[in-house]
Amino acid sequence: MHRRFTGKVCLVSGAGSGIGQETAIAFANEGAKVIVADINENGGQQTLTFIKACGGEAFFIKTDISRSTDTEAMVQAAVEHFGRLDHAVNCAGVTGGVSIPTHEYPEDRWHQVLAVNLTGMWYSVKAQLNQMLKQGGGTIVNVSSAAGLKGHPNNVPYSATKHGVIGLTKTAALEYATKHIRVNAVCPTAIETPMIMDGRLNLRSNQELREKFTNEQAMMRMGQPKEVADVILWLSSDESSFITGHAMPVDGGAFA
Ligand SMILES: NC(=O)c1ccc[n+]([C@@H]2O[C@H](COP(=O)([O-])OP(=O)(O)OC[C@H]3O[C@@H](n4cnc5c(N)ncnc54)[C@H](O)[C@@H]3O)[C@@H](O)[C@H]2O)c1
Repeated sequence: MHRRFTGKVCLVSGAGSGIGQETAIAFANEGAKVIVADINENGGQQTLTFIKACGGEAFFIKTDISRSTDTEAMVQAAVEHFGRLDHAVNCAGVTGGVSIPTHEYPEDRWHQVLAVNLTGMWYSVKAQLNQMLKQGGGTIVNVSSAAGLKGHPNNVPYSATKHGVIGLTKTAALEYATKHIRVNAVCPTAIETPMIMDGRLNLRSNQELREKFTNEQAMMRMGQPKEVADVILWLSSDESSFITGHAMPVDGGAFA
């Protein structure tokens, strides 16, 4: 197996479930020391257990990325426990939980989704950049969505925030391109995680909607969280050393 991250310190937010959990485990399997950050303590502890069972090294910090004090503490945890921060992945996100058209969308939900997906993403990137600038380099991968590249009916804050993540990613990529900090985004389509299987869309029990989501990919299947984690690790590794400011679809051919 590749061991591209031996001795590196990697931070993953939203690491208690789905894509973030797979990413944290994948980093650990390649030799990284991992900071597992999530608002959900049970999920975070579960990830820690998986990593430790495979002989990996990790530390969990309960983090609500919509609070700047928490995002600063999450980066500080990397420095205190493992001495530095080499690679950050900002995966924590929410969908809003309801399907309502734009003119009726509830104001409170709009603010909740913006606070996590966009403001929380900026707080996270800001804290990570401050540490990486001190060290002289690093990589950041932000998890956007296919909904960041096209509209997403009945979930306006989700699509708006995921478009915003790409603007944030490209701007930071330009600002730090000569400072040895690369900043990229991934834009997955339908990935089998609790977010879409059990959340607002509930694809686990809604067979018709599940088929619709399956058929959107040219491969006629949904993606697995590991398939997104693999792209995130590649964007974090030296194998992508000339790539910054990209918003990369992970889409089974959907955008083709
Ligand atoms: N599953 C998909 O089809 C899909 C597609 C495109 C993009 N995404 C994006 O991928 C990312 C991961 O989603 P997933 O599918 O793995 O979902 P998930 O629900 O399985 O995982 C999301 C994690 O984020 C955590 N989280 C939520 N709010 C948080 C907060 N304020 N602070 C810290 N942690 C918080 C949750 O506790 C959870 O562990 C999200 O940003 C999502 O928008 C998912």
